Amino acid sequence: MHPATLCIHAGHRASADQRAVVAPVVHSTTFLLDDEAYAAMTSGRSSEALIYTRIRNPTLDVVQERIAALEGADRSLLFASGMAAIHAGLMASLRSGSRVVAHREIYGSTWDLLSNLLAPLGIVAEFVDLNDDDSRRAALSRGADVVYLETITNPSLDVPALPRIAADARAAGAQVLVDATFATPLLQRPLSLGADLSIHSATKYMGGHSDLIGGCVSGGAAVMARVYRWMQLAGGCMDPHAAFLLDRGLKTLPLRMECHQRNALHLARRLERHPRVEAVLYPGLASHRAHERARRTLSGFGGMLSIVVRGGDEAALRMVRRLKLALEASSLGGVETLVSLPYNTSHTRMTAAERLAAGIPPGLVRISVGVEDVRDLEADFVAALDGA
Ligand SMILES: Cc1ncc(COP(=O)(O)O)c(C=O)c1O
Repeated sequence: MHPATLCIHAGHRASADQRAVVAPVVHSTTFLLDDEAYAAMTSGRSSEALIYTRIRNPTLDVVQERIAALEGADRSLLFASGMAAIHAGLMASLRSGSRVVAHREIYGSTWDLLSNLLAPLGIVAEFVDLNDDDSRRAALSRGADVVYLETITNPSLDVPALPRIAADARAAGAQVLVDATFATPLLQRPLSLGADLSIHSATKYMGGHSDLIGGCVSGGAAVMARVYRWMQLAGGCMDPHAAFLLDRGLKTLPLRMECHQRNALHLARRLERHPRVEAVLYPGLASHRAHERARRTLSGFGGMLSIVVRGGDEAALRMVRRLKLALEASSLGGVETLVSLPYNTSHTRMTAAERLAAGIPPGLVRISVGVEDVRDLEADFVAALDGA
């Protein structure tokens, strides 16, 4: 079936014995032990046993099955946050002495995890421009267990050439982990382009209403068995109430994405003409460096865009503080328009030079374009820029 149908129906159907049209929310942490549960536990099939919510929960089952259908995966698992999902995906693929080759433009907390938290465990991360054939191949020739990238990068909106990168990574014996948060499973299915794991912060578009924290990892059966062990024993499982909110959010993901994208393209074109804007970064603009790669690998350009305000971070902050409708807040992918400055939010742990290398020049404002009437958004941004 098509993605819009899967978003509503995959994972749960009202049936004669289970008459609820909406999947029931099961808050119970524990379940009756019976012979079947004991048999599953003692034969090493604990992931199949309905005995305890950190191990398995019926509400999570519904959403996991839906995401697996959308991703074209053998299995999907839900996590307490996007970072918990990224952590589990990495830990399932790494060991002491491993090397990670990551795209140099990635979300600040992932950069922090790879650069600072995993280093004492003997895991080395190298950040390169994965689009550059020479840099990529040179980095891979030094050895790699994992190649890590984002489908659409936060916040520079680069679109790495996944099929080419994945082919080289496989040849070098590395697993390919893709954070597909900005693209959602609707704009790209990374597993079909060579990724081993597709990871999302479900906090963003998949939830869609800025009211849940969650993450998910999808992939083939063998690697997901290892991811499951990390979920179960590191304990980063999703709460059933968050799974219920995600179940609800996913049903309208196609509708929301259509509007996010339409609004983002409109705003990108309008702001590109504003004299106070040095550059607009949006993969849907012909002027964007990743436009051709985006056209080849995505079925849409997404709802995120960044603008570079003339005058640097202070001028950008002045502009942001003049906005009346868009809210200054971190996070993204909700129905409301949010703006943030990476230098004081998502990428604050980087130095200015590290930010520049990650595609973040001074004055960059990240905009998560919501689903409001685009005429109101346009008026808000133009007035804020005019007055800044
Ligand atoms: C691209 C990307 N990946 C992962 C995350 C982390 O997700 P969470 O906040 O749900 O842990 C974020 C958060 O902003 C993000 O933008």
